Amino acid sequence: MRCLVEINELHKTYHTGDVAFEALKGVSLDVSAGDFVAIMGPSGSGKSTLLQLVGGLDRPTAGSVRVDGHTLHTMDETGLARFRRTHIGFVFQFFHLVDNLTVQANVELPALLARRKDRRAIRARSTDLLTSLGIADQAPKYPWELSGGQQQRVAIARALINQPTLLLADEPTGNLDSASGQEVLAILSVFNQRGQTTLIVTHDAAAAAQARRVLFLHDGRIVGDVPGGDARRIAQQLAESEQEQSG
Ligand SMILES: Nc1ncnc2c1ncn2[C@@H]1O[C@H](COP(=O)(O)OP(=O)(O)O)[C@@H](O)[C@H]1O
Ligand SMILES: [Mg+2]
Repeated sequence: MRCLVEINELHKTYHTGDVAFEALKGVSLDVSAGDFVAIMGPSGSGKSTLLQLVGGLDRPTAGSVRVDGHTLHTMDETGLARFRRTHIGFVFQFFHLVDNLTVQANVELPALLARRKDRRAIRARSTDLLTSLGIADQAPKYPWELSGGQQQRVAIARALINQPTLLLADEPTGNLDSASGQEVLAILSVFNQRGQTTLIVTHDAAAAAQARRVLFLHDGRIVGDVPGGDARRIAQQLAESEQEQSG
């Protein structure tokens, strides 16, 4: 499989006043096109930081990220914004929908922001996505009229409207009950089977088991990299990876 994401010796240090905190301590990782990768690890281990650097929402202190042949750290702000609009779809724990736009308008918003003029194609795609996600009948409603699970599906449709090269989801089930969370994971899995390269951060071993590959982060380093599939084994591996560096 073609390598889509190349992460090389990535470091990120945050500065708060005089205090420096090294959130990533040299992460290297290749992700193949079409892969479905789950990132696990304790709170504070650097999962969100890693996702933000891959998506070009923030810049590394050292090291490099290449996505689909684009080297992120050499881009200026305008270039990075364009890269995000055309290559990356983001899904967050708290859906971040716009309250005074309908569901359909929320889904289409990134297409307008990308200044796409093909209104009819955009409408067709948003309708298709809402249909695949089982919420076509919610299109004229407002986000606050929907359940959490439905809102997260809207956020997934919005993330996919511009056909991103890479879908990034940071704890997409973290704010959902377990049944809705499983549905959201099943949806991400279906889009992955249709070719969508996907990286998710999750606390949930059952969720991670749906991925093809599971990475474990601890204190800013990758300490494990195993195939998905077996939730029990993943939970065990997570426990081991947490012990590995605590001694
Ligand atoms: N903007 C920031 N400024 C300062 N410290 C931060 C910032 N973002 C994250 N951190 C710190 O970096 C570490 C890793 O954070 P994060 O990547 O959010 O971890 P995770 O998503 O695994 O919980 C944490 O200790 C966190 O407090
Ligand atoms: Mg996080």
